[in-house]
This record gives sequence, structure tokens and C-alpha cells, in this order.
Amino acid sequence: MISWLVFWLIAQSIARSQGCLKCSKEAMALKKEFTDHFLEKKLRREPDLKKNLKKLVDDAIEGLSHQRIDPEKYMAMIDETTLGILATHFKRYMNRIMESDFEDGQLFNEVNWSLQKLLATFQEIMPTITKLHCSNECGVMMYVSTNCFNCITRSHTCNKGIYCGERRVQVEMDEDLILDCALRWHKASHGVKKYRFYRVVNGKEQVMTTGEDSFLVKKEANSNDTGRYRCEMLDPEGHLSSRLDFHVVVLSPVGKTTWFTRPHLTTMEGSLALGVSSRAPPPQEDWTAWIVIACTGGLLFLVVAAL
Ligand SMILES: *[C@@H]1O[C@H](CO)[C@@H](O)[C@H](O)[C@H]1NC(C)=O
Ligand SMILES: *[C@@H]1O[C@H](CO)[C@@H](O)[C@H](O)[C@H]1NC(C)=O
Repeated sequence: MISWLVFWLIAQSIARSQGCLKCSKEAMALKKEFTDHFLEKKLRREPDLKKNLKKLVDDAIEGLSHQRIDPEKYMAMIDETTLGILATHFKRYMNRIMESDFEDGQLFNEVNWSLQKLLATFQEIMPTITKLHCSNECGVMMYVSTNCFNCITRSHTCNKGIYCGERRVQVEMDEDLILDCALRWHKASHGVKKYRFYRVVNGKEQVMTTGEDSFLVKKEANSNDTGRYRCEMLDPEGHLSSRLDFHVVVLSPVGKTTWFTRPHLTTMEGSLALGVSSRAPPPQEDWTAWIVIACTGGLLFLVVAAL
């Protein structure tokens, strides 16, 4: 399941360790400012303390990448968002120290405290993104991640076959029929996804909609909506990433079941037609009657990561 990661890590283990945070240009610029300007100026007359502090900062940043490799916690890779969060924390701590006027011993303790906090933050956020890797049970999940050892950013896929099964959807007549194409791992898969919905008639796919929304809603389902549907998730390059089939059954409304049982079907046709026409215009066979609602989950992963 994580074999590509393991190969990749072995390949990297020869490379010199760098530390995930070193892949952030902003964080490194700030570190340089802190050690080469702030500390130089502040501790001009205390070369030993200056040396110790510089070492403390270097070791702490280096130490981030020396976490134990664990498929649940840390796989020496980081995505852009998480790296940004880490860099933000680092900048906040460093700026706080540079803006305060701590003296000698207190300065050391404050820097140490900040770096301990940074490590704690790192250990807290890395498992979240690490666990997402290859968390798809089906389909093709895509990642863009940066290797914490050499800072090279690459995209990877985790392919478990595009077919993600069939869902049975039962809806009562006149209720809204909702086809939900989103799978849990879609949010974590890289980039802007497209969803394409089909109606499958006699084994042939008829495209209904294509767009960024993962839900398709048909207001006031009627018996004509019973049937087979399919949806596909397409990655940012338009490659098919997952496919889900739907078997939709529109049930007769409770209490009116007898209207549609076979013996009465012909005799009750008039009542049925009346029932439909008493409402707004009857639903049409074409798909303009379908509407799409917004997918709210798109950035959930990012928000979770941000917290
Ligand atoms: C930094 O602080 C931690 C506790 O917060 C302590 O265990 C550690 O020894 C300190 N490091 C140094 C170099 O003083
Ligand atoms: C179902 O489709 C048929 C043929 O397209 C149409 O005549 C009928 O009115 C539709 N029924 C409903 C309830 O929309």
C-alpha cells in the first residue's frame, strides 16, 4: 500500500538530511535574518551565547526531519499547505522574539521554548497528512508533495482501480433524488476535481452534467427517474479517477401504493395524470430538470490541516 513511499525513502536515505522546514524559502529567509542579523547585533559581546543559540536553531530545524519514519505519523514528506502552516508558526515564534527585548538567559529560554513548541506543532500536524496518503479504498488518488530530505516536489498517484462500486438509492416519489459522487479521499486528492454524471440506458452512457460539484439533485423524483446512473471523478488533467454506479429506485408514496400496483395501473392512470398536473409543469425527460448544488467539502482537508 505504501510501497512507493518506502522505495522513495530508501532512495533518499543516502541524501543529506535537510528538514521539512528547510524547504520553505520564507522560513529560511527568516531564520537567516534571526541568526545573521538579530543575534549578531544583540549578542555582539557574547560570542558563546550567540554560538549556542545559532546551534540550537539549526539543530531544531534539522531535528524536525529526524523524526522516526512511521506510515501513521511521518513519512518525510510534506504538502505545500502544511509546509506553509509550519513556516507560519516558525515565523510567528521568531518574530515574537525579535520584537521583544529579552536578555541573555531569558533570550535563550525563549528561543528554546519556541523551538520546542515548533516541534510539538510539527508532531501534531504531520500525522494528519501522513495518514491521508493512499487512504483511498478505490480509485486513483493524486498527491503533490515535497520530500523533506531534498525538497524536491513531485506528484504521485495511488491507483487502486477506478471502480468504486454501486450504490443503491431509494427515494420516495416527489422527494428530492440526490446522487452523491464524493468519496472521503477526494478531498485529500490533489487539485480541482470534476464530476461527470451519466444516466445509463440499455448499457449506454448519456452525459447529464460535468462540473466541479460532486452532488446531483433532481427535485421531485418521479417513476421515470428509476434506473441506472453513473458518476466519475476526473482529476485536474481530466483523467478518470473514480467511478461509482447508482441503482435508483423511486418508490411510490406511502399510502398511495395501490395506485401503482399492476391491476390498477390502467384504470388509475387518470388519477395519476391529475396528481402530476396539479403541480407545476411536469418534469421533463431532458436533464434541464436536474439541478446541481454546491459541493461544500472541497477545502475541508485544508481547513483541517490548518487547525
Ligand atoms: C529546552 O527546554 C526543554 C524543556 O522545555 C529542556 O528539556 C531542554 O533541556 C532545553 N534545552 C536546552 C538546550 O537548554
Ligand atoms: C414519464 O415519461 C413518459 C414518456 O417520456 C411521459 O409520458 C410521462 O409523463 C412521464 N411520467 C412522469 C411522471 O413524468
